[in-house]
Amino acid sequence: MALTLNEIVPWGRSYEEYQQMFALTDIELGQRILGCADGPAAFNAGLTQRGGQVISVDPLYAFTELQIRDRIAATYDTILLQLQHSQADYVWEAIASVADLGRVRMAAMTQFLADYEAGKQAGRYRPGSLPALPFENDYFDLALVSHFLWLYSDHLSCEFHQQSLRELLRVAREVRLFPLLTLDCQLSPHLSAVTAQLLRDGFTVSRQRVDYEFQRGGNEMLVVRAA
Ligand SMILES: C[S@@+](CC[C@H](N)C(=O)[O-])C[C@H]1O[C@@H](n2cnc3c(N)ncnc32)[C@H](O)[C@@H]1O
Repeated sequence: MALTLNEIVPWGRSYEEYQQMFALTDIELGQRILGCADGPAAFNAGLTQRGGQVISVDPLYAFTELQIRDRIAATYDTILLQLQHSQADYVWEAIASVADLGRVRMAAMTQFLADYEAGKQAGRYRPGSLPALPFENDYFDLALVSHFLWLYSDHLSCEFHQQSLRELLRVAREVRLFPLLTLDCQLSPHLSAVTAQLLRDGFTVSRQRVDYEFQRGGNEMLVVRAA
């Protein structure tokens, strides 16, 4: 079922955060990349500026730039207030304070908004939702999923995670997911069952430490590849 705009809480990370969360090398950044659940993140805009090939898919892209801009304005203060109350869940180093976080996220979302309509015209922002993606088999070298699968394990079932991984591996040779934690900083309860199923299906699966930790304990990505 399609999300309504009022159900979406737009919050986007920067190009540099994506690079760190997924430990992306220059060679990998030159591959054909899918950013799944990218929302208002600046990864697509930043990689496109650097000459990369990336398509982002998210239900948010059913909306116009103006609608998304208004929704960001309507939710931004509430998100920052919630973060004020949950500061202990985060590591305040690279991002030093809640105010600093607000500036970093808003800069990323502003970069996204400036790129959005042109990127949509060019087919770089495509409306769509897991667990069914609008791409042919093996269209991408690499699919990235930041802050969607695992994070919302309380709302998204183990079966949804399994179907989504299968779909991501249909369209991409390799899938990376970050973080492996739920919103309350616990390892996702679906991780072991989903990993076991992927191994039975013949994929290779590894947990890899990365040089990025903002959510406390969130410093690993899952890497899944066709064997
Ligand atoms: C917390 S945001 C993460 C945004 C971005 N990946 C980042 O890390 O900055 C989660 C995103 O998941 C998107 N989303 C919600 N349901 C989805 C689905 N079924 N398939 C793909 N994306 C979905 C939302 O629209 C939202 O943009």
